Amino acid sequence: MQIHFLTAAPARPPRARVRVANQDALPADLPAVVREGAAAARFTAKPAQSHEAFVESDGRVERLLLVGLGETGAAGRMGSIERAGAVVSIRFLTSGEAAVLVDLGGSGLSPVETAAFLLGLRLRAWRHDAYRTKLPDEQKVTLKDVFVLGAPEGAEAEWARESALCEGVEFTRRLVTEPGNVLYPESFVAAVQERVAGTGLEVRVLDDAEMRALGMGALLGVAQGSVRPARILAMVWNGGAAGAKPFAFVGKGVTFDTGGISLKPGAGMEDMKWDMGGAGAVAGAMLALALRKAKAHVVGICGLVENMPDGGAQRPGDVVTSMSGQTIEVINTDAEGRLVLADVLTWTQKEFQPAGIVDLATLTGAMMMALGSEYAGIFANDEPLAEALLAAGKASGDKLWRFPLGTAYDKLIDSPIADMKNMGARTAGAITAAQFIQRFIEKGTPWAHLDIAGVVWADKAGATWDKGATGYGVRLLDRYVRDALEQPERP
Ligand code: BES
Ligand code: MN
Ligand code: ZN
Repeated sequence: MQIHFLTAAPARPPRARVRVANQDALPADLPAVVREGAAAARFTAKPAQSHEAFVESDGRVERLLLVGLGETGAAGRMGSIERAGAVVSIRFLTSGEAAVLVDLGGSGLSPVETAAFLLGLRLRAWRHDAYRTKLPDEQKVTLKDVFVLGAPEGAEAEWARESALCEGVEFTRRLVTEPGNVLYPESFVAAVQERVAGTGLEVRVLDDAEMRALGMGALLGVAQGSVRPARILAMVWNGGAAGAKPFAFVGKGVTFDTGGISLKPGAGMEDMKWDMGGAGAVAGAMLALALRKAKAHVVGICGLVENMPDGGAQRPGDVVTSMSGQTIEVINTDAEGRLVLADVLTWTQKEFQPAGIVDLATLTGAMMMALGSEYAGIFANDEPLAEALLAAGKASGDKLWRFPLGTAYDKLIDSPIADMKNMGARTAGAITAAQFIQRFIEKGTPWAHLDIAGVVWADKAGATWDKGATGYGVRLLDRYVRDALEQPERP
């Protein structure tokens, strides 16, 4: 879908028009039939409330959608505006209309608010219909162009930034949605290389021979049960001051997680195609940063493997040596994400000496049990980093809830045969997973681990996504870069 800014009303406007309404001030110039019709239908311009009408104007019938923004100055106003934008897509995406005119005249929306409206509109319009060859006509997307009229001065520049963010979220959703036979480590790399070509993002790839030479026994132990070779993908965006240390985003990219020899039950196993949601978020965030030319030095690193059970697969009880030199007893081959992250994090620190690290991973079912799909869990060894991420979560809508770390939890992963084992007891599963990862973080490096198992995939539609891939993490990381790295003086 394309969004175009207009400076004057088009000579031949599309049949569909959108007007936005504040709860405290409906547009004054609505035709009486719309104003009275809306009132009769109890439309009061509550956030994301809508009312559709048909009116005659200049001898033709116009389709008019009135969308509510809620009270001006209300708490959560930006979120309400995004949801209102999303309603435009819900109503018109498959409506038969090819174009709509969004008439913001008299709405009082600021440039930033206008961009938020369009962000909601665009994000809610994303679909993945590539494999549906028999879609009935009335379910096909018809909306192609959105014309924006009456936007305030400066809105287009704000939108340029938000549209880069949309590209990132959409790319993440695509990666997360692709099935395991299509998306595997090598094809993940190829998809990123193709998508970021020409953006100025530098891409580096490690193949299995290089990983073996580096001693990545933990990551390769997971990969050895699959015919698909593993990859590490690094994306470098250097828009920061010369010589500035990079900040690192690291993603778990298990392109399919069967559990390995500790095989998962069959029911619902198809969900494990999105066990690369952390890597997907990192790739989407890096794309967004490059497209909007962020003034920061950031590296995004994805650990890409497939976890399969074949004759070469690792066994429960195997002991592997990680790149850090630490040995791990693999109690359960289904606790593979931490094994992948262990080596990727070691490599990230050796290779880039980052100023700080945030890792994202669909790491544990326990996190899903704890938080459901509203919040992702955050663990951190550094207060300012935790605070900045929690704030970015609030501002972006990709919400975070903090969990504890501590030596008592750490003890639970001691092993009788190796330096550690890859799972703890039956309880506190998300925390022992985080403790495991922390053992691979060098002293003095600020680090946060985000367990996003519950938020990557939605069973029902949300504010700015349909059911399926949410794109969680892209907006969070982009917001963190904006507020903490590009403007470090901001609280
Ligand atoms: N990818 C899963 C975690 C997961 C489960 C994410 C369900 C999203 C939905 C991870 O690799 C895993 O299998 N974790 C195990 C760890 C356990 C064996 C210690 C889990 O959480 O059950
Ligand atoms: Mn697993
Ligand atoms: Zn997994």
